[in-house]
Amino acid sequence: MDKIVVLDFGSQYSHLICRRIRDFAVYAELLPYGTSIDKIKELSPKGLILSGGPASVYEQGAPKPDFGVFDMGIPILGICYGHQLVVNKHGGSIKRANKEYGASTLNIQGGRIFDGLGGEITAWMSHGDEAEKIPSGFKVIGSTENSAAAAIVSESESVFGLQFHPEVAHTEHGSKILENFAVNICGAKKEWTMESFAKTSIEQISSVKGDILCGVSGGIDSTVAALLIHKAVGDRLKCIFIDNGLLRRGEAEQVKKMFVENFGVNFIFIDAAEKFLQKLCGKTDPEEKRKIIGEAFVEEFSNYAKNGNFEWLAQGTLYPDVIESGVSKGPAAVIKSHHNVGGLPDWLNLKLLEPLRDLYKDEVRKIAKVLDVPDEMRKRHPFPGPGLAVRIIGEITKEKLAICRTASAIVEDELRSASLYDDVWQAYASVGDDRAVGVVGDERRYGRIVTIRIVSSVDAMTADWARIPHEILDKMSRRITNEIEEVTWVTYAISSKPPATIEPL
Ligand code: XMP
Repeated sequence: MDKIVVLDFGSQYSHLICRRIRDFAVYAELLPYGTSIDKIKELSPKGLILSGGPASVYEQGAPKPDFGVFDMGIPILGICYGHQLVVNKHGGSIKRANKEYGASTLNIQGGRIFDGLGGEITAWMSHGDEAEKIPSGFKVIGSTENSAAAAIVSESESVFGLQFHPEVAHTEHGSKILENFAVNICGAKKEWTMESFAKTSIEQISSVKGDILCGVSGGIDSTVAALLIHKAVGDRLKCIFIDNGLLRRGEAEQVKKMFVENFGVNFIFIDAAEKFLQKLCGKTDPEEKRKIIGEAFVEEFSNYAKNGNFEWLAQGTLYPDVIESGVSKGPAAVIKSHHNVGGLPDWLNLKLLEPLRDLYKDEVRKIAKVLDVPDEMRKRHPFPGPGLAVRIIGEITKEKLAICRTASAIVEDELRSASLYDDVWQAYASVGDDRAVGVVGDERRYGRIVTIRIVSSVDAMTADWARIPHEILDKMSRRITNEIEEVTWVTYAISSKPPATIEPL
């Protein structure tokens, strides 16, 4: 398949470049900036993009690619720091400039990369350095008030440099610029569709020998991974679902129904609710609770796996996880210990099968549609592995679990009735040990406080509290206090992420 390689110099937008390109059906792959020229040649890319990054090209130890990439005979596009590398490599010079962040007007002066765009666009800038002298043999094709050489091109129209970020949504026609580069200039064919991915993936998995075990949660990633494998190997796949007693209302039945009735997959249901809740009894520390749940999952999983004849363990690992696992992160980066079905003991001796490791989340959502995953499941909000445990502050008791579950179901119901469910990222209710006095009839009651949290987000990295109309919040609040006797107060969480996180624990 035709592809574009993006070399990552550490910009927070590097992934976005790949995603934008894939959106117009050209396959793009992100590689670390130091990838060897041999490895890049092996992939036979149709074009190469050098991403932005926080460094300055003259800094000692500044990240540089193998400059042999400029002799590969393929078009190259440098973005921001990549633009400065292009200038530096071809003999131009860079200077420290007044930092320029945010929207600027780009005046376009030609160049195939801007075909079909007109004379002016809004371009998103985020840089401290800029090109002072452009290399000989290059010409300026775009400038802003602060950057005379905001876009340059070589005489042969094969090497481009853009000081701004075409990949961010704030740059007008940014996708068109990337498409002009990838399709018109590099000649990459639009072959990356989720239908073609599913077909190839199923063909490849068909050659896998031996039985495969896949842990499923009902979430989109494990569901899609399991369905691709099922289409390839049929009954050699067994899906295991562990009910840890921390699920949303009706969740276990819904997942079982989908796998068994809709898809006819071998489905093992393990009711481990009591075991999990016993292990959590008396525990109040958030990280300890997560650890206990993670270990209990592994225990249940291993107990089942050791009795079978499995050779493979399937997981719904995604592309960003794969990339991230190659990057060393300091301990400070571990804000919460997220868990997947991982950490299985070596003695199980299972090989890993990860059919989604080349995909982004939105691509997995598209395949789910191709595979006829019911809308109801496809559009469900993300749900954390440790389940309601991260929404119950303090000890997890059956009383608090029931409150959290019922109140969350009310929040979801009301959002659905208001047709707002699909517009928000997550919505739930949490409960802790704080109490507040209420009056019920003539009686004073010292009841629980429930907090509703509804957030909007695009990728869970940042989030904002959703501005839900007051009358809908009012309805949720009334239903929660009416339908759950123990609750006297309902509050709404109005903290964004950062500084808060989406889940309270
Ligand atoms: P936070 O609370 O860190 O959550 O802002 C970001 C996203 O991750 C989900 N989340 C988890 N998912 N295991 C998971 O699989 C976990 O331990 C976990 N903790 C948080 C959370 O629901 C949100 O979508």
